[in-house]
Amino acid sequence: MPGVVIVGACQAGAQTAVSLRELGYEGTVTLVGAEPSSPYARPPLSKAYLAGAATAESLSLRNASFYEAQRIDLVLGDRVVDVDLDGGCATTDSGRRLPFDRLALTTGARVMRLPVPGADLDGVLYLRDLADADRLAALLPAARSVVVVGGGFIGLEAAAVCRAKGKDVTVVEMLPRLVARAVAPEVSAFYQQAHERRGTRVCLGRTVTEIVGQEGVSGVRLDDGSELPADLVLVGIGVRPRVELAEQMGLELRQGAVVVDQCARTSDPRVVAAGDCTLLPHPLDPGVMVRLESVQNAVDQAKAAAASLLGLEQPYCSVPWFWSDQDDLKLQIAGLSTGYEEVVVRGEPDSERFSALYYRAGRLIAIDCVNRTADYLFVRRLLGAGGTLPADLVSDADVPLKSLVDV
Ligand code: NAI
Repeated sequence: MPGVVIVGACQAGAQTAVSLRELGYEGTVTLVGAEPSSPYARPPLSKAYLAGAATAESLSLRNASFYEAQRIDLVLGDRVVDVDLDGGCATTDSGRRLPFDRLALTTGARVMRLPVPGADLDGVLYLRDLADADRLAALLPAARSVVVVGGGFIGLEAAAVCRAKGKDVTVVEMLPRLVARAVAPEVSAFYQQAHERRGTRVCLGRTVTEIVGQEGVSGVRLDDGSELPADLVLVGIGVRPRVELAEQMGLELRQGAVVVDQCARTSDPRVVAAGDCTLLPHPLDPGVMVRLESVQNAVDQAKAAAASLLGLEQPYCSVPWFWSDQDDLKLQIAGLSTGYEEVVVRGEPDSERFSALYYRAGRLIAIDCVNRTADYLFVRRLLGAGGTLPADLVSDADVPLKSLVDV
């Protein structure tokens, strides 16, 4: 009997399956994943897992008996390569034919490859899935020098782990500051200094023109002609949504992603999509379309998608949040700072404990907190309740934010 086929056995895919059952769906649920492992959490790959403080089993989102008890059919190590929407059938690489009457796309994103000579030498690595993390963890003990290309979250988290393991680490970032996509210049400057204090070199405004080596990597040439020695090169220069199937089905795409509404519905009523592959209405400001690459988005959007598959309307409108652990620096972000006009720093960045509050048109839209969890929790709740904080009063770190407003 046809049922729901979910393409992509990741955080969003697993949540779609779980939510279908929670909402009382009794039909067949098939969750298809290209990787051999059952759905797992990716965030620890560049943190505790790489550091050796978490096992592969501990990353699993659910154990095998859960899927069995919930009658969620896992098809692993196989990928959907063709979808016949009118015929209601998805075909996998190995020739399996999976009938459906509704389809969920949770295909995620793939890493951008470094387009330079030498990029396929041994020792040039990426970090997106468990196999990537295992490869890196296996090669790391013998490496002395690690060059990290890309000063985004992946690059900085991995750099922090490599440095803590005593490696000689250099981060090469093409833009004039770190994590530019996500945080204000004040926060970028803090991260640069914090990594430098821990002994990591940071090269800003530089790109890699060549990876040097015979069989394995020996160095990295930069665009100013200089060469950095490297036994390992870790590339974290961003991701692109996986949209081949959506393209094949003729779904509306924009900015290289699958366009969905607040209920995770695509342009075809038979198909929903959730997670990194989507372009979605800002959960708190639905007139603006955004891409959100985060666990929270995958989970909350998948809940909306499951409801839509059953003909229910449960729009996703929760406050976006993110986190990043780099050494003992815990960054927590609530809201989206895109389009901010003013940023107020609360506390002293040099103390490695501060927040940055973002304002647009006089209203608070987001906060970045470094080792200030109370600020983060409060603002996340406040934004969810539609509240704001007076910009001229938040900079004094000794005054609790909650004393500045009634929530
Ligand atoms: P990213 O897009 O966040 O950062 C990539 C960085 O590489 C940018 O700073 C960019 O300017 C730089 N870059 C691009 N091309 C370059 C080049 N040729 N040479 C040097 N630098 C270059 O992507 P990233 O860090 O790879 O992360 C991948 C995904 O994982 C993203 O979705 C990210 O949000 C997610 N992630 C999220 C975390 C979190 O929310 N805490 C933690 C780790 C990863």
